[in-house]
Amino acid sequence: MNISLHAFRDDAPEAQRLATALGMPLTFVDVHTFPDGETAPCVPVTTPTTLVYRSLHQPNAKFLELLLAVDAWRRNGAKRLVLIAPYLPYMRQDAVFRAGEPISQKVVAHLLDAAFDRIITVDPHLHRTSSLAELFPTCETTCLFGADALARHYRQRPPPASTLVIGPDVESGPWVNRIAGTLGLEYATLRKHRHGDSDVVIDLPDKLSLADRPVLLVDDICSTGGTLHAAISLLKRADAGPITVFVTHALGSANVTDALLRAGAASVLSTDSCPGVTGTVHLAALIAEALPPSDVLA
Ligand code: R5P
Repeated sequence: MNISLHAFRDDAPEAQRLATALGMPLTFVDVHTFPDGETAPCVPVTTPTTLVYRSLHQPNAKFLELLLAVDAWRRNGAKRLVLIAPYLPYMRQDAVFRAGEPISQKVVAHLLDAAFDRIITVDPHLHRTSSLAELFPTCETTCLFGADALARHYRQRPPPASTLVIGPDVESGPWVNRIAGTLGLEYATLRKHRHGDSDVVIDLPDKLSLADRPVLLVDDICSTGGTLHAAISLLKRADAGPITVFVTHALGSANVTDALLRAGAASVLSTDSCPGVTGTVHLAALIAEALPPSDVLA
């Protein structure tokens, strides 16, 4: 066998869905934790092309472990390592916002660029960066869209035609635009002012009328939930109809989802890029279709 698919055990459900979509067996990296907290990943039988599924939310611990495993895969004969990381962390820190800060986006991209031959990810937060190719000069990259997974999810029961797709800030424009285009709906973006990690104020653009109109409120990331919470409160005050929330990457806990429901969301959906209860919009089929024939078992 020339191609294999590996994953870490805490990604088992999502990685198994991908294995099923690809019709490939899945094998797991075993991670030994030493008494002092250091870890040693032990990779399974490795093939010349090795696909690695790793969700990189909560990245601080996972990142070093992944780079250690890369050393093991290479030593075990991997010539081509393909990383499937549906969530790419640290992309939001793409500038020095306060004197003394790093540009974390560049640091993380540099490490992954050196370690892998191809990276497949979903809706990376590239605000001031034009493309993944700018960040990954050596490694091939594929950028998938949560919007396309949502369109599949809605295939049987699309939202009402009067639904307005709304993004909470100008930065959400690309995601909002793509979702609205894919589902054939109108869209608008709100105006966000951030005063702190969970302190955001959001305004309605002038002349946006929402009375009784169903809303699909979308963003790429939900972390503290502060952005979506403020947007939902504003939409409720503007008498919007039922509000469905969709985020590509639900980084927050179940408490964050509960708070959005309490604020007035009718339902909260996300992709399964990060493990969690809202992750019912599965990415496996989209990822499987994006892999070139040379990277999958015939
Ligand atoms: C920011 O630019 C992103 O697109 C999200 O709006 C943001 O990361 C959400 O964070 P939080 O849930 O903490 O408000």
